[in-house]
Amino acid sequence: MNILVVGGGGREHALVRKLLQSEKTGKLYCIPGNAGIANEAICPRSDLKTTDMKQIVAFAVENKIDFAVVAPDDPLVLGMVDAFQEKGIPAFGPNKLAAAIEGSKVFSKGLMKKYGIPTAKYNAFTDMREAERHIRDSGTYPVVIKADGLALGKGVVIAEDFTSAKAAIRSMMEEKIFGESGSEIVVEEFLEGPEVTVLAFCDGKTIVPMASSMDHKRAFDGNLGPNTGGMGVIAPNPHYTPEIANLCMKTIFLPTVEAMSRENRPFKGCLYFGLILTPDGPKVIEYNCRFGDPEAQAVLALLDTDLLEIMLAVTGEKLNTLTVKWKDGAAACIVAASGGYPGKYRVGHAISGLKPDGQLDGALVHHAGTKHTGDGFVTSAGRVLGVTAQAKTLQEALDEAYKAIGKIRFEGMFYRTDIGKY
Ligand code: AMP
Ligand code: GLY
Repeated sequence: MNILVVGGGGREHALVRKLLQSEKTGKLYCIPGNAGIANEAICPRSDLKTTDMKQIVAFAVENKIDFAVVAPDDPLVLGMVDAFQEKGIPAFGPNKLAAAIEGSKVFSKGLMKKYGIPTAKYNAFTDMREAERHIRDSGTYPVVIKADGLALGKGVVIAEDFTSAKAAIRSMMEEKIFGESGSEIVVEEFLEGPEVTVLAFCDGKTIVPMASSMDHKRAFDGNLGPNTGGMGVIAPNPHYTPEIANLCMKTIFLPTVEAMSRENRPFKGCLYFGLILTPDGPKVIEYNCRFGDPEAQAVLALLDTDLLEIMLAVTGEKLNTLTVKWKDGAAACIVAASGGYPGKYRVGHAISGLKPDGQLDGALVHHAGTKHTGDGFVTSAGRVLGVTAQAKTLQEALDEAYKAIGKIRFEGMFYRTDIGKY
């Protein structure tokens, strides 16, 4: 089968590598891809953005693509899966209606409320002053403020007092730093407890959770600094016991699938559950409609079943006929970022220490933001590389990943040295 993966980060590099392991995979394309992906798959249109829907779909038609995988949030929320389907090309990922589970916090919070799925208590506001009044009257801090729509993972502010809450509301609703994503906001209760990510394959009826994981969203060691897209991941998550997994299946995963299907938005693809294990039980802090990045890098390293078979079962609504197997042991992914990320940073720095086969001392190097120049790889984004190791124990996986990342250099490079310590 000819396959097209849409996206160009570390997550897509991990997906491409897994898809290449399938016997069914023929030509494998990735748009836009990146320099690391281009070593393994065909990246014919690195000039396109993932939201260039018309051109990407036209490419798929011209090049006889049999199956598409739409990995990032924005094309999913824009309806790229629907656009492929209109041309008769099956695509992995939720359609536009189902992608609203990530695309609108007001929608997802409303869904959880309607179907009794445990989540933080909240109120939604379209009026700035009402939101401010609500926060002042309730007087409980910290309080969590979220822009309704997509905001590059930066649309969440945890405000410690009224002044910072007001500043966050103004920047979202008045200054519109996230554009229309901030026209409506959600103000919610702050939840305390360990965070767990569970990605799950879902075909609209059947849900199959993957190995659990733990992202590290803050930029610096000690969980300090600004929120990023994710600086490192361990899988499985040590806080996520089999008892908690059972509870989540009963109170969160199955009810979510059921709720989406009742709303006539059956979810097909990878559903991302961002959970907090509170003293009152697991609660949802966010849904995403796609694989996490860098969660995918660590979680897919543990997958022991053909990913293409699973994806075909998802789009064909036959997930109940498949057994998805996982490797024993653990995986860790450490992200190497550009100095200044998630704020301003420079690009174009030469990267040294990489091997042509994408491996390093037994670890896998996934490219997130790299370009190729005559002399080799250079940096091209905030998150540059993810180094992923899989081993019998979490400590061994971490040791291997850290040993490998220690051999990579570029100007301004930084990474967290405490992944997996929480
Ligand atoms: P998000 O951008 O939705 O991934 O959220 C970023 C981070 O904000 C999450 O990983 C949590 O650490 C934190 N967060 C979001 N909602 C809440 C909440 N209700 N209570 C506590 N922390 C939260
Ligand atoms: N790593 C968090 C996310 O992909 O949303």
